[in-house]
Amino acid sequence: MSDLIHYRLEDGLALIGLARPPVNSLGQPLRAAILDACERAAADASVKAIILHGESGVFCAGADITEFGSSASHATPSLPEVLLRLTSIDKPLIAAIGTFALGGGLELALACGYRVGEPKARLGLPEINLGLLPGAGGTQRLPRLIGVEPALDLMISGQPLNAARALEVGLLDRLAGSPEALLDSARELARELIAQNAPARRSTPFANPGESIAADFFSQFLAANASRWKSRQAPRRVVAAVEASCRLPLTEGLAEERALFKQAEASAESRALRHVFFAEREAGRIPGIGSDTPLRKIDKVAVIGAGTMGGGIAMNFANAGIAVKLLEVKGEALDRGLAQIRKNYEISVKRGKLSDAQLEQRMALLQGTLDYADLADADLVIEAVFEKMEIKEAVFRRLDEVCKPGAILASNTSSLDVDVIASFTKRPQDVIGLHFFSPANVMRLLEVVRGRETAPDVLATTMKVAKQIGKLAVVSGVCFGFIGNRMLEPYSREAHRLVLEGATPAQVDNVLTGLDLNMGVLTMLDLAGVDVNFLVRQSNLAASSHDASYHIVGDELYKLGRYGQKTGRGFYVYEGRDRKDDPEVPEIAARVAAELGVARRDNISNEEIHDRCLFMLINEGIQLLDEGIALRASDIDLVWINGYGFPAHVGGPMHYAETVGLDKVLAGIQRYRKELGAYGEMWFQPASLLERLVAAGKTRIEKI
Ligand code: NAI
Repeated sequence: MSDLIHYRLEDGLALIGLARPPVNSLGQPLRAAILDACERAAADASVKAIILHGESGVFCAGADITEFGSSASHATPSLPEVLLRLTSIDKPLIAAIGTFALGGGLELALACGYRVGEPKARLGLPEINLGLLPGAGGTQRLPRLIGVEPALDLMISGQPLNAARALEVGLLDRLAGSPEALLDSARELARELIAQNAPARRSTPFANPGESIAADFFSQFLAANASRWKSRQAPRRVVAAVEASCRLPLTEGLAEERALFKQAEASAESRALRHVFFAEREAGRIPGIGSDTPLRKIDKVAVIGAGTMGGGIAMNFANAGIAVKLLEVKGEALDRGLAQIRKNYEISVKRGKLSDAQLEQRMALLQGTLDYADLADADLVIEAVFEKMEIKEAVFRRLDEVCKPGAILASNTSSLDVDVIASFTKRPQDVIGLHFFSPANVMRLLEVVRGRETAPDVLATTMKVAKQIGKLAVVSGVCFGFIGNRMLEPYSREAHRLVLEGATPAQVDNVLTGLDLNMGVLTMLDLAGVDVNFLVRQSNLAASSHDASYHIVGDELYKLGRYGQKTGRGFYVYEGRDRKDDPEVPEIAARVAAELGVARRDNISNEEIHDRCLFMLINEGIQLLDEGIALRASDIDLVWINGYGFPAHVGGPMHYAETVGLDKVLAGIQRYRKELGAYGEMWFQPASLLERLVAAGKTRIEKI
């Protein structure tokens, strides 16, 4: 017998323990071993019931992700084959579910006739997060076991159920009192079943799941979710498979599920989502930083500035149970900041996401102060004051005086030079950029900006802290705008310029949302503030030798006090949150274009909008990689997916460029370089790395 399985006989019971650490992922060898062990138990007349469990507590996390997309995932015996065989064994099979049963792991449990769980077990089918669907019977067996609606819920959300809820919906038959009691509970159930001469499987309550729903249930469900899913096919495939479970006998339903699974596995959507999955694992790997890099102890945190960002940043720590001191210049600003934090928590209470007691616990972790002396014992200080170098200078000089040696001093600046900020201290090795995104308590992305002198242990410690507070950290080097905002620059430049040349804001934005981006860039500028964008541009102007006339429409809107949503007018006009086209904007654009001698065209195609905005975004990303600001292309994708609403199912701008074809991206840039005259000459300069990649016939973006 394989060492991936521990097989024990106990007085009429066969205990089959899965022993493939760490999570019993169902690679081919384990699949074969499970099948062998079950055959052996089936053939042994002394065995009256079979218990499947995880040796180390964990039941099973499902497919082996390293096999995804490769022939190994289909190597025999495939999971569907194994599970089909399990369901034909004429003895009760009991899954004893410790820690979690996810994906194929839950499908394995569904192929057993009975399921016992430990109280903290989580049971889920998260395949949708990888653009897939359960492909080993989950879509057919689950609706038969718990009904269509809860089954769809589980598969569409990708979120696992806790054990109590799993018991409630009938996914578990029994709950053990504790993780230690799990096997005993399974043994007890097995003995009861043997004593009752019970059938190999409890009759499924929804033998014909279609009977539990209205005739138009699926069409209604699809219609209700259409705008949320946009072009995503994975949820639609889940629905199609579940619909098949209502229409077809099990064997035919399984075949339909298999066909849908194969489509999903080969889809661009799944490739993109798998890319993102691996990108997240990769992002934590930093050259020169390893498990031997020492970490600094972070127990006490301080945040300077209790404004929009400072308050949100402080909440992250309070949410993770870490005490934070919040320092402000004036008592009123401090009170306002703390009141805003309380208000934010109250909203969570109203939504049922937080209890009153938890609110108070979190508020108790926040201590306001006006006195720098109170920061003497802080291990990590994050500055989030106004975006002005003189103010940052004053703050960092003061921090250098009061903070203990070894304290990490971080800045949340979104555009200022972290090396300059570090130079205000006598300890530049302890200074780092921590660029949170707004709202800081919600957005998952954190750009960790490594300064020229930032010490490796400071970087390693902040990466760990980021994880502790639930952030996805991506390392960036120092440059204007770091990874995300620097790429935003050419992307928004083209959007502005296209409006100047004759496109409407809605036409530009619709092309981008047509790619499933959360919002078009001009809607985003209206939301973030036309004024904020203007001021950032002004501060960048000094550092840039280029003519800034491309943003002229934005400058005009700024002059007119059209700051975006907050003033009710920007690139669009707003009634509440309702966005409408504003005929004045094309008029403004036409006037400015005439002044600048820019020819306006009424035939700007969607293709041109796509290529100019997206290819310039991609080009800048490739340039960042070449400069070493970004460590890898997939880090850039994570920044744009988690900070700028680029759809994960498109994979981020770098992955998207690979899908389009690097040669096509280069050709597009070269085309507009020629077609757009002096403007094209100035701005459409292909990144040298892009040229090198295409010349070398590469299809993936990497540093060469
Ligand atoms: P804000 O204006 O909402 O808050 C700044 C706070 O700092 C105010 O409460 C002010 O009283 C306080 N402050 C000013 N000088 C101070 C000093 N010397 N000592 C202590 N407190 C002081 O500004 P916001 O939006 O929170 O921005 C803060 C920083 O975060 C800036 O560097 C900004 O560039 C950056 N940032 C802003 C983002 C945003 O979307 N708002 C996103 C990412 C970074």
